Amino acid sequence: MNPFPDDIFTEPEDVDPNTLANLGPLRRLAGVWEGRKGVDLNPKAEGPERREYIERIEMQPIDAQANGPQLFYGLRYHVHILATDEDSTFHDQVGYWLWEPATGLVLQTLSIPRGQVAIASGHAAPDADRLVLTARRGETEYGICSTAFLEYAFRTESYQIEVAFNADGSWSYTSDTMLAVRGRPEPFRHRDQNTLVKVAEPTPNPLFQIRAKPVEEV
Ligand code: HEM
Repeated sequence: MNPFPDDIFTEPEDVDPNTLANLGPLRRLAGVWEGRKGVDLNPKAEGPERREYIERIEMQPIDAQANGPQLFYGLRYHVHILATDEDSTFHDQVGYWLWEPATGLVLQTLSIPRGQVAIASGHAAPDADRLVLTARRGETEYGICSTAFLEYAFRTESYQIEVAFNADGSWSYTSDTMLAVRGRPEPFRHRDQNTLVKVAEPTPNPLFQIRAKPVEEV
């Protein structure tokens, strides 16, 4: 059954400008993070390669966004990864984590400089200790889109990320990207895992900063 309203234009009124207070389960991702114990399994000609990596993630609150009646609060993120044994970027990724309070929908958009984008979706309670989001190639809603070369040689069939919030305030993720590698009979599980520790608090979203100023400064 279609869960959407007939009125697709009217936006919600009285939207709270304080994004950090309305992020539901994503509140625990806000801030700047570092992880020094990342492990990557990636496909190489000679077989799976295991590399250790160091990661920095910035997740900053954005102003609430409305698609007509659909209201999202969210974080804009940047992931930057270095392998422990070389200076050039090992992995880079930007996007948004989004939370729809009305339905519990959680989205992660991701864009990586191989020429690849995806939207992964899941559902969670506001106090969830765990998030699971998935995207699947061929889906038009929560799908994956890649360059023609990647489609030919390393076809990404699915993506899943599982986030676990730890009692000490850190959080851990496991991401599984299933790749159909040309000439190989079995799909390859490209897996990444790390635990992130907070190194700086988030900066409040732009609208909240404006609203928080005393009237004479505005
Ligand atoms: C912590 C996260 C990640 C790290 C550290 C990482 C690292 C790597 C590395 C080192 C390779 C091999 C590159 C090469 O041989 O040229 C690779 C391949 C690949 N990765 Fe990732 N990756 C990550 C996440 C992802 C995600 C989330 C996706 C897509 C949803 C993805 C898609 C791919 C694809 C399609 C390839 C094959 C392309 C190729 O080898 O040329 N990766 N990744």
